[in-house]
Amino acid sequence: MFGNLSALPADPILGLLAKYRVDQNPNKIDLGVGVYKNEAGHTAILDCVKTAEKFRLETEDTKVYIGPAGSASYNDEMGKLVFGEHEILSQNRVRTVSTPGGTGALRVAAEFLRSCKPGATIWVSDPTWANHTGLFKAAGLTVKTYPYYDYENKSLKFDEMLATLSNVGKDDVVLFHACCHNPSGMDLNQVQWQKIVALAVENGFTPLIDMAYQGFGDGLDEDAYGVRLMAANVDEMVLCTSCSKNFGLYRERIGATTIIGKDVATTDIAYSVLLSVVRCIYSMPPAHGAAIVETILSSDELRQQWHEELAQMRNRINGNRQLLVDNLKAQGVERDFNFITSQKGMFSFLGITPEQVQQLQDEYSIYMVGSSRMSIAGIANSNVEYLAQSISKVL
Ligand code: LMR
Repeated sequence: MFGNLSALPADPILGLLAKYRVDQNPNKIDLGVGVYKNEAGHTAILDCVKTAEKFRLETEDTKVYIGPAGSASYNDEMGKLVFGEHEILSQNRVRTVSTPGGTGALRVAAEFLRSCKPGATIWVSDPTWANHTGLFKAAGLTVKTYPYYDYENKSLKFDEMLATLSNVGKDDVVLFHACCHNPSGMDLNQVQWQKIVALAVENGFTPLIDMAYQGFGDGLDEDAYGVRLMAANVDEMVLCTSCSKNFGLYRERIGATTIIGKDVATTDIAYSVLLSVVRCIYSMPPAHGAAIVETILSSDELRQQWHEELAQMRNRINGNRQLLVDNLKAQGVERDFNFITSQKGMFSFLGITPEQVQQLQDEYSIYMVGSSRMSIAGIANSNVEYLAQSISKVL
């Protein structure tokens, strides 16, 4: 049986991590996978997470099965975090299941959408996160793209995006990034969200919003603007969230899939299908990450501490954006890289060729995705000069 298989290339993002780890160059820089790093290059556990874990260790009294939906309290807290004081919560049109990370949330969403309409078409931005396409295809969806990032002008192709989506009808799904677009860092502004939401209402396509970076753009509420606006206006939508980045819970694998239905009765039917999807893939989610998040979000003190730690991460990344641009200027690089400072979240495209990306890796031990997507959190005061010098050389 196994003899029928052909070897596949390493994942374009995770494969880089493996290469970086064995690189012996003391100057190596990891701008690959999207994880937050502090100034020392370490992905530390948040203090609020440490406190919540201690509390759970002392108070947890069973390891019995949790059920396909996961923790009800985590699901409620996530609803409040994402939607705030939103009318859809009081209308009882929201159902959430805890999932193994954001990727698990997307796979559950995709399988759910396939149950709604086998072979449904999902439209994703060009470009989008490298794993979106494979994941949706693996779940049996048909993937098409809409224009999004203008590589030449470092801007959004908003008119083209709108023109393509205006031909998408009610049987299709459209994937949006809530904030901190991965990989481009180019987000929709509020007026653009308003136009997209109006189109979704008019055409009736189903929005699937991927929100993996809430709090890394402008702030928790600001980053949820598009999600909340969409939820207030459409009859049905699906939302995938992740606690990997904003709670730093990467390896705990905790996220959520949320569905919003037209009314209570249809939402309940949809929820029964969602639970069955979960049962058929992994039965029920891991509980530890959810327990940490619900402990933090349900405590005024820990929630406040988390807000502060999240703001520190956000501010450091934004500072790194300016730091890189300043250092490139200091190296005498003439090309204009100012666009990096106005993009949001963990990523930006540097805008160099795949050959130059490879040269940075081979000759300078600087790792970024072949598209020149950089994880900005990997920049530090201690490595930015070497980084800017190396970029200047390959340019
Ligand atoms: C990334 O885009 O680097 C992250 O979302 C990690 C991943 O799983 O790809």
